[in-house]
Amino acid sequence: MFEHVAPYAGDPIFRVAAQYQADPRENKVNLTIGLYFEDDGSVPLLAATQAAEQRWAAQKLSRVYLPMEGLESYRNATQKLVFGDQHEAYLSQRIATIQTLGGTGALKVGGDLLHEAYPNSQMWISDPAWDNHHAIFGGCGIKTNKYRYFDPQTQGVDFNGMLADLNHLPEDSFVLLHPCCHNPTGADLSTAQWDELIALLQAKKLIPFLDMAYQGFGKGLDEDAYAIRAMAEAGLEFLVANSYSKNFSYYAERCGALSVVCKDKAEVDLTLGKLKAWVRKNYSNPPIHGGAAIALVLTDPELFQSWEHDVTAMRARIHTMRQAVHQHLTRLAPHYDADYMIKQQGMFSYTGLSLEQILRLREEFGVYMLDSGRISIPGLTTKNVEYYAKSLAAVV
Ligand code: LMR
Repeated sequence: MFEHVAPYAGDPIFRVAAQYQADPRENKVNLTIGLYFEDDGSVPLLAATQAAEQRWAAQKLSRVYLPMEGLESYRNATQKLVFGDQHEAYLSQRIATIQTLGGTGALKVGGDLLHEAYPNSQMWISDPAWDNHHAIFGGCGIKTNKYRYFDPQTQGVDFNGMLADLNHLPEDSFVLLHPCCHNPTGADLSTAQWDELIALLQAKKLIPFLDMAYQGFGKGLDEDAYAIRAMAEAGLEFLVANSYSKNFSYYAERCGALSVVCKDKAEVDLTLGKLKAWVRKNYSNPPIHGGAAIALVLTDPELFQSWEHDVTAMRARIHTMRQAVHQHLTRLAPHYDADYMIKQQGMFSYTGLSLEQILRLREEFGVYMLDSGRISIPGLTTKNVEYYAKSLAAVV
């Protein structure tokens, strides 16, 4: 039946992660997929989620369908976390939020709604991008394009190039942005740059879609949401996808949310209706288990404190590993500019290595990074960080 279809080339992230798994060497290093590892190499199950899961399971509730928009307590707690409970947009109830299947599910439902409402608009995505952004919005029927984002010379954002590209877009174009911890480069805008960008988006009547998959991994839970809160304050209408995969270490539970900031409460009702229709057409309604646990953690002061403590520890460990690589490389490879390790933030960084160097690292040293040169920092630990730096020094 499907003999005529083109074979799937595999995902550029999952494919290299699988190659790493298949490597029998004991000293191999996994810097591929965005997973947070503890210093002992394990992926944590957080104490707060574990307690919440047990508490929820003990209630022995029947597993009836959730509404299409998901759990009420989860949706409300998400708004508070993403926007802040004192934000005008939250207090005046002009945000429509639904529970989604991870951040990816939020992007898909948001893309479907955008394409329905603005069938002639195209999507603009940072260059380089998380490859799946092009795939997801393409799958919604939206044509995707690139705007300039990364400057390899400064290892930071090509802000002038970005503004110049966005400045030329037709009204109602969609613009995909990362509020913090840009994937794949780790290069983020400053708050002053966000303010300038927000003014441009508003003046040009563009439609922003903010994808926040790493809240808490950059500077802090509130700091990382700066762009979202400032944008809502400036009066823009836009979409936000947020994910709990990383900051709850809850990857397989597929917990995320889609929020649409609207003009007023009446528009929220209309938007929520449309979102429900797209959820119904896509997968009917979300699962309950992970969402119920997250809702408990976010609404119980003690569990929240425990979770916040863990997020802080995860962020601190990433920071420590960034510093350690930088120190080692300054000593081992003084001709190689490793400042990006301390200039960039979050889970990922761009090493700037060539494909030839990347393949040598894989074959000779068992060090696995993506073909683009992106590394996922939490794969580094106090045990392997020097080995990583030595391996890298050997190929540059
Ligand atoms: C990544 O970029 O490695 C993560 O977001 C995992 C994924 O789904 O690609």
